[in-house]
Amino acid sequence: AGSGKFFVGGNWKCNGTKDSIKQLVSDLNSATLEPDVDVVVGPPFVYIDQVKNSLTDRIEIAAQNSWIGKGGAFTGEISAEQLKDIGCKWVILGHSERRHVIGEDDQFIGKKAAYALGQDLGVIACIGELLEEREAGKTFDVYAVPSWDNIVIAYEPVWAIGTGKVASPEQAQEVHVAVRDWLAKNVSPEVASKTRIIYGGSVNAGNSADLAKKEDIDGFLVGGASLKGADFATIINSVT
Ligand code: G3P
Repeated sequence: AGSGKFFVGGNWKCNGTKDSIKQLVSDLNSATLEPDVDVVVGPPFVYIDQVKNSLTDRIEIAAQNSWIGKGGAFTGEISAEQLKDIGCKWVILGHSERRHVIGEDDQFIGKKAAYALGQDLGVIACIGELLEEREAGKTFDVYAVPSWDNIVIAYEPVWAIGTGKVASPEQAQEVHVAVRDWLAKNVSPEVASKTRIIYGGSVNAGNSADLAKKEDIDGFLVGGASLKGADFATIINSVT
């Protein structure tokens, strides 16, 4: 933990029912959370309203996707304006499941990010293979982003997502430093030092404290373990 306030997001992915989410919200509402941590949960779209109406304001809400522009004739899409309207503060963009299962590319994700930021949503921008992509000459579409003030970068090595194979604190730290250096060179030293770079991939209540000790790990994006209120609370509280 180093840059800015520690940030822990729970990405619920395509999980949950009205009943299971009711239980999860009630567990989160009764959990004791470190005050100095930004906490965000990302329910599936259809449950955002339920969560917004029942979850403590201490925790902010993220959507898991948003459209590249203003709404209209785009069947199946949800606009940034609509997300704001129902009380979302954040959107998770560029998750590896959207890149590799759905086929989104950097350019498309860059457009979504720029539009969402323009609507005052915070963006949790996921990168999975920055180093490989950089070697291949590809980079996150930074020039399309109007400002870095509301961006949190989530580094999620694809091999660690949902596999139980967490990156070691040293492995994650090494990549976070590389991402920060990349920001310093390609955006600005100021953005590099201020932007929170969080780690995702098999984070759980047992491994989060060691990861949180690393200087450049500024938080987590948690999948599976964020579906259990007590485990998620332990992860949030792992920065002390
Ligand atoms: O966005 C979080 C995620 O991809 C990591 O998932 O289940 O390995 O914590 P999980």
